[in-house]
Amino acid sequence: MAYTPESALQAIEELGYPVVLKPAVGSWGRLLSKINDREAAEAILEHKEVLGSYHHSIFYIQEYVAKPQRDIRAFVIGNETVAAIYRNSEHWITNTARGGKASKCEITPELNDICVAAAKAVGGGVVAIDVFEDPDRGLLINEVNYTMEFRNSIAPTGVNIPALYVDFALKVGREGWAAANGWANGEPEQNWVSLVSGASA
Ligand SMILES: Nc1ncnc2c1ncn2[C@@H]1O[C@H](COP(=O)(O)OP(=O)(O)OP(=O)(O)O)[C@@H](O)[C@H]1O
Ligand SMILES: [Mg+2]
Repeated sequence: MAYTPESALQAIEELGYPVVLKPAVGSWGRLLSKINDREAAEAILEHKEVLGSYHHSIFYIQEYVAKPQRDIRAFVIGNETVAAIYRNSEHWITNTARGGKASKCEITPELNDICVAAAKAVGGGVVAIDVFEDPDRGLLINEVNYTMEFRNSIAPTGVNIPALYVDFALKVGREGWAAANGWANGEPEQNWVSLVSGASA
């Protein structure tokens, strides 16, 4: 959303501290801010306004989720979560590009179901999903990445993600998008959303 410094400060205060500010388009955990109080919020917003270009005024304001020292990166291909890793870190930003350590995460039915539903909500295909384990609310979807990277996930999981990716692409070519995603006729029932405005990369 595009904010003015005043409207952003108001939105932050309404959400309650701590909050997370992140760019609408970004990756590898860059340019994220965890804001613990009003003074920090004012400082970040002033820096964005004075030093940033126009696209720095478009950002997400999110509730900070008090996850454990890790999050889950899950890989969905069609209607299946094919692999998942924990990204463990002492830092609240757990991306492997920021020093998070990857280890295998077992795919429970609950994890599979929420990830496949999230993939379906953006039209299916091949996506990488960030999941938080909230102590009270269970699994929460943080984001759906439509240009996924998997370099650090093959060794810990033992899953040949690129081979499955290619198999899926071939199936789309042979049988069409709905069949490759395992959808019955008429699915998905959710409205299609733009991958650009509906999900951060
Ligand atoms: N609202 C939040 N509450 C708690 N931790 C968060 C929150 N948002 C982000 N994080 C932490 O920061 C990391 C990076 O955030 P996010 O995935 O939104 O950014 P990204 O730069 O798009 O990363 P990616 O390269 O995965 O696309 C998350 O994996 C998580 O560890
Ligand atoms: Mg991410």
